[in-house]
Amino acid sequence: MHIVLDELKEVLPFESMVHPSIGNLRTLHALSLESPDRFWGEIANELYWSEKSGPVLRPTDVPPFGKWFEGWKTNISYNCLDRHLNTWRRNKVAYYWETESGESRTITYQQLSDMVNRIASGLKELGVRKGDRVTIYLPMVPELPASMLAVARLGAIHSVIFAGFTSQSLVDRLVDSQSRVLITADVAYRRGKKIGLKQIVDEALERTPFVRHVVVLNREGSSGTDAGKRNIPFSELMHMGKGRVSPEFVEGTHPSYILYTSGTTGKPKGATHSTGGYMLWTYYTQKVVFTVRDEEVYWCTADIGWVTGHSYIVYGPLLNGVTSILYEGAPDYPQPDRWWEMVERYGVNVFYTSPTSIRMFMKFGEQWPKMHDLSSIRILGTVGEPINPEAWKWYHAHIGAEKAVIVDTWWQTETGGIMISPQPGNHLVPLKPGSATLPIPGVDAEVVDEDGQPAKQGQKGFLVIKRPWPGQFMTLWGDDDRFRTVYFTKYPGMYYAGDYAVKDADGYFWILGRADEVLKVAGHRIGTVEIEDSLISHPAVAESAVIGRNDQVKMQVPVAFVVLRPGNTPSENLRSELLNHVKKTIGPIAVPDQLYFVERLPKTRSGKIMRRVIGAVVEERPIGDVTTLEDTTSVDEARRAYNELKNAMKS
Ligand code: PRX
Repeated sequence: MHIVLDELKEVLPFESMVHPSIGNLRTLHALSLESPDRFWGEIANELYWSEKSGPVLRPTDVPPFGKWFEGWKTNISYNCLDRHLNTWRRNKVAYYWETESGESRTITYQQLSDMVNRIASGLKELGVRKGDRVTIYLPMVPELPASMLAVARLGAIHSVIFAGFTSQSLVDRLVDSQSRVLITADVAYRRGKKIGLKQIVDEALERTPFVRHVVVLNREGSSGTDAGKRNIPFSELMHMGKGRVSPEFVEGTHPSYILYTSGTTGKPKGATHSTGGYMLWTYYTQKVVFTVRDEEVYWCTADIGWVTGHSYIVYGPLLNGVTSILYEGAPDYPQPDRWWEMVERYGVNVFYTSPTSIRMFMKFGEQWPKMHDLSSIRILGTVGEPINPEAWKWYHAHIGAEKAVIVDTWWQTETGGIMISPQPGNHLVPLKPGSATLPIPGVDAEVVDEDGQPAKQGQKGFLVIKRPWPGQFMTLWGDDDRFRTVYFTKYPGMYYAGDYAVKDADGYFWILGRADEVLKVAGHRIGTVEIEDSLISHPAVAESAVIGRNDQVKMQVPVAFVVLRPGNTPSENLRSELLNHVKKTIGPIAVPDQLYFVERLPKTRSGKIMRRVIGAVVEERPIGDVTTLEDTTSVDEARRAYNELKNAMKS
């Protein structure tokens, strides 16, 4: 489902569509780059800072080449909550929470603030202080955003782990961040089933003795096997302290959170975000891209465990005093009109989801959205992967009734917030299905060739950002070297995003997919090496190679090739065991769609696995140049294994 250049040529007239609003946007854009102090300083005044000294941006010689709001002080939870409490928004709904089974809660800004203060008081009693890390492993419950804000209120640093990850992922992230406090729940609910989160946590706790306290939200009344040792019920935590905590005002460059994301090695990268710049970026982008009005309802369907949820379910909406929906459940449960039924019931005006979900609904058919009145929808967003023009048009026609504005938003965990997107709240430029359109003010994006020179119009190249922007991550937690190497070495002085892109005659950006060995599975980012490491950690596996295969709905799915250790023989049982092993160690999103047993993996003379060859075999493309193969017979072998399996599956 990668957008290929040929497909683009059909929908994309490579001639200009210049429009007056593009001119205005370009003026604003130029101003933001030339006078960041003036431009961002003015927007920063819409938020609360306890101190403002020094410049908005101080350029530096080393990556990321700038520090934002270094001498300024603020607290992001104060800006999300307290700032609204002296206004009429105090009694406005912050979240409508709903579960699959229909359980629901309405939480106002005042109520959220009370919850956050109570959690923060409890955490303070547990010894949490400025700069400490607190890991949060919760499903989509109101206690999740409340815990994040409570941690931020203390000037501590949260590390939220997606509740779909399992024990090894949890251990790796706890060890890396050295969190002494973990907040979790006994269970999560999905598709009518219970997922035992605390069980996964207890397994991880066996290998993380430095974790001193485990706060457990008991939804089913059980605390797990670790009970009595480190466990504290969430309800008890809420009554431990004084119930109110003064916010800790921290420097703009103080880390607000770590969010682990996949890279090209087995070790996840702890993208570390600032407080001041990140706050400004989520506030500003939420406002100009989604333009949610006070009387409106906004729904971002992501999970808070990913960056989209951090920035556009928690920080962006709350900083803007928006009313959001928080939904714990699957999009098609109990049937494929679940989301549309909710859109109608809440009168959702602005809706933000992923291309994978859109393609899934395309497959279900338009009869499902047709069952409901979706006329409240004004803006439709997409994020996480390239949206193919066909899905864009379906979304526009069947969810947006041909009238909603589509905002295709390109950004990454590392960028903190939206970077390239249409902006209905500033100057809406003409939309082109499949293009994220133009960089927003503050973003100096370019498509460059292998040498770092601007690529020609219509020519595929690499996406880079040429100067610092407020939302940028500051480093990778505990690994400044990796931060510099991964992002700032390929093109000195520029941020390398790791995506292929192409620019058209109007300067519109078309993002074509990842340029590295990171997969996008249903919009989720997962490193092939992480899956390989998981497979190799099984005693029966000697070697493995994982690649991504294009998929009609999920964009990509992992496919694994495995070489067994002597004494093991391929079997259906072993295949299931290995798939289950990946599920248990990383999580369901990493489980290969197919797993093939082979005798050898195709390798170069220097021993590097030739993924290109495996990819070609899987996608039945010509293999191309294989002269550097160590042993060409292994290509035939991989092909034979694949064909055999395909035949076996057919029969
Ligand atoms: O490949 C790009 C793709 O998602 C990657 C970032 O993934 P992650 O850090 O998990 O963040 C996802 C949510 C922001 C990018 O490198 N991507 C994200 N948005 C788009 C996109 N590709 C094309 N178009 C988009 N709108």
